[in-house]
Amino acid sequence: MTYKIAVIPGDGTGPEVVNEGLKVLKAVAEKEKIRFDFHSYDLGGERYLKTGETLSESVLAELKNFQAIFLGAIGHPQVKSGILEQGILLRLRFALDQYINLRPVKLYPGVETPLKDKGPEHINFIIIRENTEGLYSGAGGFLKKGTPDEVAIQESINTRKGVERCVRYAFELCLRRNHKLKLTMASKTNVLNYAADLWVRTFEEVAKEYPRVKTDYTHVDALCMWMIKNPEWFDVIVTDNLFGDIVTDLAAMIQGGLGIAAGGNINPDPGGVSMFEPMGGSAPKYAGKNVINPMAAIAAGQMLLDHLGEKKAAERVEKAMSHVLEKHLKSMAAGEMGYTTQEVGDLVVKYL
Ligand code: IPM
Ligand code: MN
Repeated sequence: MTYKIAVIPGDGTGPEVVNEGLKVLKAVAEKEKIRFDFHSYDLGGERYLKTGETLSESVLAELKNFQAIFLGAIGHPQVKSGILEQGILLRLRFALDQYINLRPVKLYPGVETPLKDKGPEHINFIIIRENTEGLYSGAGGFLKKGTPDEVAIQESINTRKGVERCVRYAFELCLRRNHKLKLTMASKTNVLNYAADLWVRTFEEVAKEYPRVKTDYTHVDALCMWMIKNPEWFDVIVTDNLFGDIVTDLAAMIQGGLGIAAGGNINPDPGGVSMFEPMGGSAPKYAGKNVINPMAAIAAGQMLLDHLGEKKAAERVEKAMSHVLEKHLKSMAAGEMGYTTQEVGDLVVKYL
């Protein structure tokens, strides 16, 4: 069997880190006798500036025929903020119904965390962010735009179906992970009298089907505090789209920064197409310099393998990454790793 994987290197440092991610995927595929068929798509800022196109219907239709998508970064300094993000990244998430945003937060040995007195034994949890609804739905409008009486409305859409499938995924993952068997929901029940109410009611109802999982609720502002003070409390955290966006950046910092943080946009349904990406963005100031940290892209590749069910290959990549992080990289920051982008990819391949 051959896995058909779409590759979208995208903008800025995206292509450089994707190259290293692919280098590792190809090397582990050879060792584990996995066959990959990679197809590259030039979606991103350059293509948009040339053609005015973000993501066409025909490309979208093609992408539905792949088993997964490997994405570098979307965002270009000459394109107004929002166009590429909404036209490519969010459009893919919505059109492919990737309703789970999966963000493992794991501090590897040898990686520096800004949290005093915390180590790998304290920082090992997963955040599940709902990825298709909430304030990201694009619903809303202006009234009397540009006048002193202007009104701007941005609506948070929360459906029972959308919340339930996300919460259910979180419970299932908690069981599969079998770590602390604890699921924490974060919301704002003290303020969001409709949305948070639906989330908590759904959470409590679904929880009855998972008696082995301990449940816990925290307001999202308090979550920010506890993630810093007591990250060891957490196992799996589930929250809505915007809260999840915010807390996952905070979480990325405690695991060593954007150079190492990877995420998956998952459609868990049969035939669903999921997309894996480093969290770092396009970092235009480092583009083309061979200094950016590719570890997040390599970790995204590791998540892709795991998602495809290639557990042995995924473990192999994780072990190699972990070794390189502990024994080689001086820092996670661009230009301070002690190695070039390509050398980091080569090192991971060496220890596979
Ligand atoms: C992320 C990013 C995106 C988001 C942006 C680029 C639209 O911040 O993946 O977390 O807000 O979801
Ligand atoms: Mn974000």
